[in-house]
Amino acid sequence: MKIRDFGVEMWMNAYENHCELNLAETCVQSLTVAELLALSGKTNVILEELLPLKLTYGAIEGSPRLRGLIAGLYDKQAPENVVVTHGAIGANALVHETLVEPGDRVISVLPTYQQHYSIPESYGADVQILKLRAENGFLPDLAELRRLSLPGTKLIAINNPNNPTGSLMDRAFLEQVAEIARAAGAWVLCDEVYRGTDQDGDGFTASIADLYEKGISTGSMSKTYSLAGLRLGWIAAPKDLLHAVSIHRDYNTISVSMLDDHFAAIALDHRARILARSQALTRGNLAILDAWVEQEPRISWVKPQSGTTALLKYDLPLSSRDFCIRLLEKTGVMLTPGSAMDMEGYLRIGYANDPAILREGLARMSKFLAEEGAAAHRHSA
Ligand SMILES: Cc1ncc(COP(=O)(O)O)c(C=O)c1O
Repeated sequence: MKIRDFGVEMWMNAYENHCELNLAETCVQSLTVAELLALSGKTNVILEELLPLKLTYGAIEGSPRLRGLIAGLYDKQAPENVVVTHGAIGANALVHETLVEPGDRVISVLPTYQQHYSIPESYGADVQILKLRAENGFLPDLAELRRLSLPGTKLIAINNPNNPTGSLMDRAFLEQVAEIARAAGAWVLCDEVYRGTDQDGDGFTASIADLYEKGISTGSMSKTYSLAGLRLGWIAAPKDLLHAVSIHRDYNTISVSMLDDHFAAIALDHRARILARSQALTRGNLAILDAWVEQEPRISWVKPQSGTTALLKYDLPLSSRDFCIRLLEKTGVMLTPGSAMDMEGYLRIGYANDPAILREGLARMSKFLAEEGAAAHRHSA
């Protein structure tokens, strides 16, 4: 089975370990084990908890404790509506693999995580792209979604909050998406891996699993909870859908690591403290980035409402890939080129990392933009 290169992953694999200042990272600054234990008051008891654990496959669908804690992130989900997976990447792959057959109509927003259009395309689905446009604040155009949602559409894949734009669909907006999907008989897969990072309120936007009878939410510990190293995600969905997923999951997952399950449960048990840390980082850092964009004549954007990333439009005669490679070579700062996510003309910045790295990276970018701008001016004069 052929599948397109995963643009962002290839970019990361090639450059992530060669940069000095990583502004391509999409996780809220990752926690060390020591930090997680300190935040959750477990430093002195963790060995007592771990040593007696017999390392079997464990509970196949995730421990009852963890599934209960995950269900608690939603309004209407019970532990039986949750299955644990290898990251949100495993969750998304399982949903696509379970639902999509050759010839099925699948609608995916773009830009988004590439899984949502390249996997169904590789299965021979009829993939329709719903382009998110800057003039709509990078929100889906609902009239266009309605037009694309022919009766019998199998799946609509959305991503909320959105990577890379940071746009956010609120409850009322999601209800309209659900209404369109219902009329077409379509499932809605909403990749909610950044849920909990909204700039306002408690940080949590509504979840499609709570709003729509054919709504499937995927999530994970990686971004909002700063624990990508656990490789732990989940699907929250109606039980009949999970039953169908479990048939596929038996072939490629069995269970997740008992240790990852245990640490994820510790984190969710103490999520208030982790979320407070995450929101302090995402909100404080977005203010830094906002001030920088304001004073940078060659950069413009749609300011994110949520998430950890923003798309920057730049005014220089360079492809996004050339921009990023030259920036990396000259300054050590790593961004992600828009071309890696089918958004040429843009750059993606991840702003939820260490504020000192963000500040220094932005300062170096300012110098780079001034130099490149002057060179472009000389060239055109
Ligand atoms: C929108 C989106 N979905 C899924 C993933 C995969 O996340 P995980 O680490 O949980 O597998 C990512 C990672 O960048 C993402 O941005």
